[in-house]
Amino acid sequence: MYAQATRSSSRRLLSSARRLNSASRSLHSTTAASSSHLSTHRTLASDAYTKSTDPDAPSVSTTPDITPEQRSALDAALRVDQAGEIAANWIYMGQYAVFSRDKNTRELIKEMWEQEKKHINVMDKLQVQHRVRPTILADAARAGGFLLGAGTALMSREAAMACTEAVETVIGEHYDDQLKEIEDLPNDHPSVPLLRKVIEEFRDDELEHLDIAVENYAQRAPAHALLSTIVGAGCKVAIELCKRV
Ligand SMILES: [Fe+2]
Ligand SMILES: [Fe+2]
Repeated sequence: MYAQATRSSSRRLLSSARRLNSASRSLHSTTAASSSHLSTHRTLASDAYTKSTDPDAPSVSTTPDITPEQRSALDAALRVDQAGEIAANWIYMGQYAVFSRDKNTRELIKEMWEQEKKHINVMDKLQVQHRVRPTILADAARAGGFLLGAGTALMSREAAMACTEAVETVIGEHYDDQLKEIEDLPNDHPSVPLLRKVIEEFRDDELEHLDIAVENYAQRAPAHALLSTIVGAGCKVAIELCKRV
């Protein structure tokens, strides 16, 4: 009961952070709102990696000269982020495979999966830019992600949404915590402010996925509390493992 109350209050805090952030971003947005669930037509920090006409710009091609402690914090952060995005892609792949004949659910999952594809694309580039060793658990992340996505989807649509809700809660919180963990990095190197903005953007995307899962009756899944606890705890263990190896 306590864990559930803590989880929902931290989710409310994160949702408020996302709404504030989205409101401020929409002030700077030059395009009209999309008809899709997801905001795909804003000017985004990740565009520097996905749409840039200057791949040699220092902000996307160089890494800061930092202390060993800062380097190890940056390494752990990017290693776990890349692993998390690998797992997220395979979770959605598993769900998509199971719902391939259910047009509405398939399209809903596809929308979120498309954003995860962008996330892994950017994380792969950040990993190379900052010369971070990838986790040795990448294959386990793929297999575990697929099994989790397909397994919950085979249980029911609501269970698949409960899986998304639990995973995105942990990942949204993880990205939020990470902004504090990399606070010490020097702002005078152009890659650092960009990295912070990318992490904020991805945190907001993950929280949009969480909201979509809740809107699609995640909390009606049988044994919702138990499922959320198991999936959430598994994600937290995976995060700690991938930081280290
Ligand atoms: Fe993601
Ligand atoms: Fe996500």
